[in-house]
Amino acid sequence: MANQPLLNTYGRLPVVFEHGRGMWLYDTEGQRYLDTFTGIAVSGLGHSHPGVAHAISHQAERLTHCSNLFHCKLQQELARRVCDQADMDGAFFANSGAEVNETAIKLARHYGHQRGITNPSIIVMENAFHGRTLATLTATGNQRVQAGFEPLVSGFVRAPFDDLKAVEAIAEANPNVVAVMVEPIQGEGGVAIPDPDYLPGLRRICSRNNWLLLLDEVQTGNARTGTYLASQQAGIIPDVVTLAKGFGNGYPIGACLARGKAAEVLGPGSHGSTFGGNPLGCAAALAVLDATEQGGLTERAQVLGDRMINRFREHLEGAEYIHAIRGHGLMLGIELTEPCSELVLLAKVQGILLNITRERVIRLLPPLTMTDDEADYMADQIIRIIKLYAADDRDRPRQ
Ligand SMILES: Cc1ncc(COP(=O)(O)O)c(C=O)c1O
Repeated sequence: MANQPLLNTYGRLPVVFEHGRGMWLYDTEGQRYLDTFTGIAVSGLGHSHPGVAHAISHQAERLTHCSNLFHCKLQQELARRVCDQADMDGAFFANSGAEVNETAIKLARHYGHQRGITNPSIIVMENAFHGRTLATLTATGNQRVQAGFEPLVSGFVRAPFDDLKAVEAIAEANPNVVAVMVEPIQGEGGVAIPDPDYLPGLRRICSRNNWLLLLDEVQTGNARTGTYLASQQAGIIPDVVTLAKGFGNGYPIGACLARGKAAEVLGPGSHGSTFGGNPLGCAAALAVLDATEQGGLTERAQVLGDRMINRFREHLEGAEYIHAIRGHGLMLGIELTEPCSELVLLAKVQGILLNITRERVIRLLPPLTMTDDEADYMADQIIRIIKLYAADDRDRPRQ
């Protein structure tokens, strides 16, 4: 299937989807596919959620856009609701994960300038993913994302993920640091879950040094891991937190939330977005919050995640091709011992959509709205396909 006249930025599977419902996507041939990763954590309420669809169509008939030169009631309501969920004091809305991370980076730099640090640095992690704009791809710890786009943006210092001593060492050596930016669980980085003391340790280091703790919860947020923010499980409160992906269940909206002194940093004219926080996006995000609260989906993410991981452990743990099975709530990773990119095509032929990250990690981000039976069915299909692949792989001649 030719890409033209689209610019060739994506490696795509040869399938065209026409509509979706819950955990299913339907292609133009009428074939249905089980979606195990919901557009990489976007459609957390499943495809075509009726509450979100209704909110979008209703709002589209009233007011789609009104400039940020004016007040917007829905924006204020959304800010209040999301700040309540995340223990934050203020919100800035934009249209993607990269944009809200750019906002967090600008906020941290401005905070540094206000403290007299004219050349501020932000500590970022190896294997992190923060987006594809120039600043966020610089913050991203993956050379494949950066290659060919040099010169990168200055003002970032890299530390290994889950290594508090490395951050302490930077604190001693670099007086220009103003913030640490980190994902509570690295998604693109292979569903990498740090030691339970990592986030509390970063919180302590940031507070001691007067740095801001910026948490990128673009993938882990929106109730996916069993709490509204994944960091709430670590019992810490960041200074800044970013959300996108599941925040609008497919409507492109993200939030940069700030608390305490961080919420006072940006002033009028310091940042902006034409589309950010438009009434349509706010209506979608409010409908997502309604459905999440009314459906008890935060708790469901935990229950379903435990259910699936137990099933995976029961049927896969100990197999010679399984390296690890891990996850929190409905953010799960099954790491194989070998790179497994062909698994995606094999699964597609079987009507299952799988996502592989870090070459050998099957990343599962299913909808929070699944029933118990649907979660069991999805887990069983994934187990079946992994076993099929492993059996195929054993039969394949070695070079
Ligand atoms: C943790 C994290 N941050 C930021 C982004 C970038 O979000 P977007 O693609 O909406 O710009 C992603 C996307 O995968 C992500 O996983």
